[in-house]
Amino acid sequence: MGFPCIVMRLILVSALLVSVSLEHSDMVCAQTIRLTEETDKQALLEFKSQVSETSRVVLGSWNDSLPLCSWTGVKCGLKHRRVTGVDLGGLKLTGVVSPFVGNLSFLRSLNLADNFFRGAIPLEVGNLFWLQYLNMSNNFLGGMIPVVLSNCSSLSTLDLSSNHLEQGVPFEFGSLSKLVILSLGRNNLTGKFPASLGNLTSLQMLDFIYNQIEGEIPGVYNLSSLIFLSITGNSFSGTLRPDFGSILPNLQILYMGINNFTGTIPETLSNISNVRQLDNPSNHLTGKIPLSFGKLLFC
Ligand SMILES: *[C@@H]1O[C@H](CO)[C@@H](O)[C@H](O)[C@H]1NC(C)=O
Ligand SMILES: *[C@@H]1O[C@H](CO)[C@@H](O)[C@H](O)[C@H]1NC(C)=O
Ligand SMILES: *[C@@H]1O[C@H](CO)[C@@H](O)[C@H](O)[C@H]1NC(C)=O
Ligand SMILES: *[C@@H]1O[C@H](CO)[C@@H](O)[C@H](O)[C@H]1NC(C)=O
Ligand SMILES: *[C@@H]1O[C@H](CO)[C@@H](O)[C@H](O)[C@H]1NC(C)=O
Ligand SMILES: *[C@@H]1O[C@H](CO)[C@@H](O)[C@H](O)[C@H]1NC(C)=O
Ligand SMILES: *[C@@H]1O[C@H](CO)[C@@H](O)[C@H](O)[C@H]1NC(C)=O
Ligand SMILES: *[C@@H]1O[C@H](CO)[C@@H](O)[C@H](O)[C@H]1NC(C)=O
Ligand SMILES: *[C@@H]1O[C@H](CO)[C@@H](O)[C@H](O)[C@H]1NC(C)=O
Repeated sequence: MGFPCIVMRLILVSALLVSVSLEHSDMVCAQTIRLTEETDKQALLEFKSQVSETSRVVLGSWNDSLPLCSWTGVKCGLKHRRVTGVDLGGLKLTGVVSPFVGNLSFLRSLNLADNFFRGAIPLEVGNLFWLQYLNMSNNFLGGMIPVVLSNCSSLSTLDLSSNHLEQGVPFEFGSLSKLVILSLGRNNLTGKFPASLGNLTSLQMLDFIYNQIEGEIPGVYNLSSLIFLSITGNSFSGTLRPDFGSILPNLQILYMGINNFTGTIPETLSNISNVRQLDNPSNHLTGKIPLSFGKLLFC
């Protein structure tokens, strides 16, 4: 006879448990949302604190009395009000890039180009899973290119050109399958051209101009979407494949002077509309320039 009573109690107890756990998860949820908006704000204030005092004046609107989403250069999502874009290009900012940028977990676009940032690219940028556009060109950034940037798997534009970056191009960049623009020119990069970059079949622009990269360029031949290739001023060597021009059918602009290529100039290059600086005293290419090259521009 007592049996239904126990069942009733059990039902009551579990109902209680359910309602308690629901309430709890609601609380956790609300707290997470509040925390993360607050985290964005904190991250940007930390970022500002690492910009030198004199150049910081342009970030005057980055203060507690104004809403985060109306701060200079800050863009938010329409619904969630999280920071999705930070555009501080050309503001003459001096200082270092705070690792706190890695906490802007909804960030899609970060433009710090044309400033005076020095120091290293913080490893925490590798946490930005949604980042599509990263432009840090024309600063004074040094050290290595962080391997963890390869974790930003949404990246379609990566421009780190005109800095003082050293050592190799990470092999892991071969996993950035959405990459369309990779611009690493005018740094101090060394080592070989990573063959893994041959995986980047969406790549349209590849710029390594003026570094010290060496070895052959086998990976380049897999980049069939390539429109712009600039490898002038490195130490690339080896011969060029005879089918160079036909294996890269979309290539329109090619800069490859001041390297150590040997062998003959591939005739198929005559189909590329703009070949610049191909032959040059620093290359050792022989052979006739194909007749159709007449219409091409040499510098
Ligand atoms: C915050 O920024 C606004 C806009 O630049 C400015 O008018 C205001 O004085 C600032 N407030 C503080 C506390 O700095
Ligand atoms: C944000 O980033 C900094 C530095 O990377 C870290 O110390 C901090 O714990 C992070 N989290 C929050 C919630 O600010
Ligand atoms: C990066 O910013 C610089 C300076 O504004 C600009 O010239 C360049 O085109 C940008 N790079 C890309 C790939 O958008
Ligand atoms: C990067 O991704 C790899 C593989 O997905 C993971 O093991 C690693 O912890 C990630 N690193 C960072 C810094 O997020
Ligand atoms: C490259 O390194 C050399 C020697 O350390 C230095 O003189 C030069 O300024 C560097 N160039 C760049 C672009 O960082
Ligand atoms: C890219 O290419 C290399 C060959 O160089 C290969 O070992 C690697 O598994 C490929 N995939 C990725 C995601 O990098
Ligand atoms: C590049 O293409 C060649 C065949 O043309 C293939 O053997 C090689 O695995 C490819 N490399 C990558 C990294 O995709
Ligand atoms: C080309 O190779 C020679 C000998 O291997 C070397 O002395 C020279 O510096 C190289 N030039 C370039 C531009 O890499
Ligand atoms: C150049 O392109 C045309 C048309 O796309 C093609 O018929 C021709 O074979 C190509 N020439 C070379 C040398 O690749």
